[in-house]
Amino acid sequence: MCGIVGYVGSRKAQEVLIKGLSRLEYRGYDSAGVAILEGHKINLVKRQGKLRILTDVLKSEPAKGSIGVGHTRWATHGVPNDVNAHPHLDCASKIAVVHNGIIENYLDLKKTLMKEGHRFSSETDTEVIAHLIEKYYKDDLETAVLKTIRSLKGSYAIAAIHASEPDKVVGARCDSPLIVGVGEGENFLASDVPAVLDYTKNIIYLDNHELITITKKGVTIKDYSGRIIQKNPSKIKWDIKQAEKAGHSHFMLKEIYEQGAVLDGILDERLHDGKVVFEELAIKDNDLKRFTKIAIVACGTAYHAGLTGKYMLEEYARIPCWVDTSSEFRYRDPIVDKNTLVIIISQSGETADSLAALREAKRKGAKTLGICNVVGSSIARESDGVIYTHAGPEIAVASTKAYTAQLAVLYLVTLYLGRLRKVIGSAKFDHIIKEFRRAPALMNSLIDEYRSDYNNIAAYAGEFKKYYFEKHNKSHFLYLGRNINYPNALEGALKLKEISYISAEGYAAGEMKHGPIALIDENPWVVCIAVQSKTYDKMLSNIQEIKARGGIVIAITTEGDEEIMHHNVNYVIELPKIDELFSPLLVVIPLQLLAYYVAKKFGYDIDQPRNLAKSVTVE
Ligand code: G6P
Repeated sequence: MCGIVGYVGSRKAQEVLIKGLSRLEYRGYDSAGVAILEGHKINLVKRQGKLRILTDVLKSEPAKGSIGVGHTRWATHGVPNDVNAHPHLDCASKIAVVHNGIIENYLDLKKTLMKEGHRFSSETDTEVIAHLIEKYYKDDLETAVLKTIRSLKGSYAIAAIHASEPDKVVGARCDSPLIVGVGEGENFLASDVPAVLDYTKNIIYLDNHELITITKKGVTIKDYSGRIIQKNPSKIKWDIKQAEKAGHSHFMLKEIYEQGAVLDGILDERLHDGKVVFEELAIKDNDLKRFTKIAIVACGTAYHAGLTGKYMLEEYARIPCWVDTSSEFRYRDPIVDKNTLVIIISQSGETADSLAALREAKRKGAKTLGICNVVGSSIARESDGVIYTHAGPEIAVASTKAYTAQLAVLYLVTLYLGRLRKVIGSAKFDHIIKEFRRAPALMNSLIDEYRSDYNNIAAYAGEFKKYYFEKHNKSHFLYLGRNINYPNALEGALKLKEISYISAEGYAAGEMKHGPIALIDENPWVVCIAVQSKTYDKMLSNIQEIKARGGIVIAITTEGDEEIMHHNVNYVIELPKIDELFSPLLVVIPLQLLAYYVAKKFGYDIDQPRNLAKSVTVE
């Protein structure tokens, strides 16, 4: 996590760095700082807390200068305070460094450096980098950075400046993302594309073990043996407007509302002449036919998309499939081989555990398929094949549109494999596609209905808040779902936990009697996903069991369901009719909105919840 930015050009570096950091704040927001070269002196300003605190300081005492580096932090080593905030300096305050990642051997390096007389001021792992550069510096920053990174173990994307070389920023990457923005008479380094999109759309994606030097005039990329590497920039197709709130109170709400349009875009892109088309998928049909099993590996919300994928793939492509969280998969010697397709799902394409799981699967000889949102990300580049979700930038930490886009791609993969393996005939395929095509419009109609601030979900959130305080903060949430909507129960609970800090648990409804039922008295609110499905009657029985014990039920049902009214549920959220297979796409929308409105009623920072970060690039 953490976001870094570097700039060299003729603009005021302070403005470029702050704007860049504001686009990267989703990566961490414990503290922020900039180091700007003013002549041959480094002006260092850093503050604990969100970027706006730093921005206020810089407004009253602006930094001059057109070269600098900046950082927004998600703390790993050392508490979030002013001292531990980046950039970090060497003893002579001539070198400033920003870093994203973890230096695993920093304690050994620190001991040696201290013996050699270096004085440390922070508790961070990063500070060793500044002192190592100082140790190796003769008269060339690039050489000193190269020598430094040879001693580092762990993951890093770094950017450094030196007061004696006020014409360049030097960076390097190993397992943490770093991109170059190529401008005219100016160049940029950053952890992610939105940080530079206000200035340029020409982007170079750095690979692991690449060293980069940017000056006003140009960009030089070298490998760690010092050999020059030629790389051409790619042109970014999307606009910075997509990474702005566009009048919405929060990015999360904007991204929830975008889901119908995102799904529409995916279907238009992937369905042609009655076929599913994956242009960028570099795995051949013959290979896809011979796989005997599929493993899906992911973290967080992407893991829930993967769990839903298992239901689709097993039923409609008849291929055995299991789903693992990346952090478990990577360390448990998973049984995968050349006959296994390992699908890694990741919005960012940079999650450290998912990247490590991908490498482990490859090491064991499996074919790997990345389903990623961020184009050119590490997982996208290292997988044997990739399918992009093309959901546009997702800024809110709590994932919403990336989730439904991942579901959409999984449906398409299922249909593709189902046809290839002759499980789905053409008539059935056409029928399924027809139903799938209805989904974007239904999502949009649902969203239109919810657009008013006083819709029923917002009202239910208000009721919950009242109840919560009446019960002296004792209330909590249970989410129950079955079959293909069971993962949505997990996702609904995760959304609520992430942004409202209220205890919430997702469960397979059939498992309720094996544990969660013990929690049911008059305190819990239970969200029951009870849309029309083959397990609908079973869900009604669960609702009875909850009501008999005093629980408060919010039922998510299908419009026209009169039966549910006889079950004494407290609140009802109706969804349009759609085949059970595609119901997860609709069910998740009220779940996302419920979490959103509860967090809003409680007055929390919805887009930047405490302790979380959007892209978890550390273990
Ligand atoms: C973090 C984010 C989640 C996300 C998860 C996996 O926890 O806060 O929203 O689902 O990482 O991220 P990925 O980029 O791999 O999908």
